[in-house]
Amino acid sequence: MSKHILITDDDPGIRKILNILLSNEGYSVTLCDGGKALHEQLNLGRKIDLIMLDIKMPGEDGFTLLEFLHSRHPRIPVVMLTAFNDLETGLKAIRMGAKDYLTKPVTRENLITCIRLILEMSEEERLKEERETAFRHHHEEIEEQLSHSMSTLDSVTRSTLMAFSETIEQKDRYTKGHCKRVSRLSVALGVALGYSDDRLEVLEGGALLHDIGKIGISEALLNKRTPLTKEEYKTIQMHPLYGDRIVSHIELFQPYRPIIRHHHERLDGTGYPDGLKDKEIPLDVKIVTLADTFDSMTSNRAYRKAFSPEIALEEIRLFSGSQFDSHLVDLFIEKEIYALTDFE
Ligand SMILES: [Fe+2]
Repeated sequence: MSKHILITDDDPGIRKILNILLSNEGYSVTLCDGGKALHEQLNLGRKIDLIMLDIKMPGEDGFTLLEFLHSRHPRIPVVMLTAFNDLETGLKAIRMGAKDYLTKPVTRENLITCIRLILEMSEEERLKEERETAFRHHHEEIEEQLSHSMSTLDSVTRSTLMAFSETIEQKDRYTKGHCKRVSRLSVALGVALGYSDDRLEVLEGGALLHDIGKIGISEALLNKRTPLTKEEYKTIQMHPLYGDRIVSHIELFQPYRPIIRHHHERLDGTGYPDGLKDKEIPLDVKIVTLADTFDSMTSNRAYRKAFSPEIALEEIRLFSGSQFDSHLVDLFIEKEIYALTDFE
């Protein structure tokens, strides 16, 4: 399809010459005798590839029209036609957004070279813009896909965590809702400590899975109503190690391993399985240990009835600094985080 050029000049002689020269080169040409005719052509909405503008015209002059075109139709390149052979007028036109200027009388060679060059540049700009738009759309699509994958991964992680914690609770029927409550208490402590969202997620997942090693202990032993023998107690104490071994094969659960392995450690080093002391125990672990102990004491167990929250809190206060981190104990009591266990 031939390129459409719009010529605006009040001189019929100039219009005629330009029309002949450009039509001979295969361009489709529309002639306007001034600003009014130019506006009418623009309003028709036809595709215009280039506009040639005379500067000195009755009514709106070339500069006024150039200003209008530059702000309302910035994609249409404009070439100014000037009768003044001075550099300043030409530079002014370029400064105002014209792509080039031609001095009258225009020679055929100058005209054709200038028009061809400007149309090529404009086509290049159009293609560049198209490429950039396509690239931007592609980028947006990728971002959308990525965020969809992330949220799918998030929901897969969450469902997997819930499935595992339910499995633990099904094995040990006295611990119904225990993992979720420990998770809730732990997250509340994390929030009180100003944890970031990422750290809270680790805390939540680790708390849900802290007893995953119980999968490796027999149901008969987990639900035994009579006091445990020394051997049986030792077997139960293996569950943090079993848990650590189970999750060691699951990439998704790697951040939870310290909580799973160490949630029975004590500050004074008398806990298990590694006998870690205060500074060696990560804060996440200390949080889950406190939440786990409080919820275990206030829940029914196979071998004993639940303690009241008051008695459980007394116990925790008593062992603050030896079993539990004293700052965490203070927060747990002052912020009444313990009261969150009533949710189920
Ligand atoms: Fe445990």
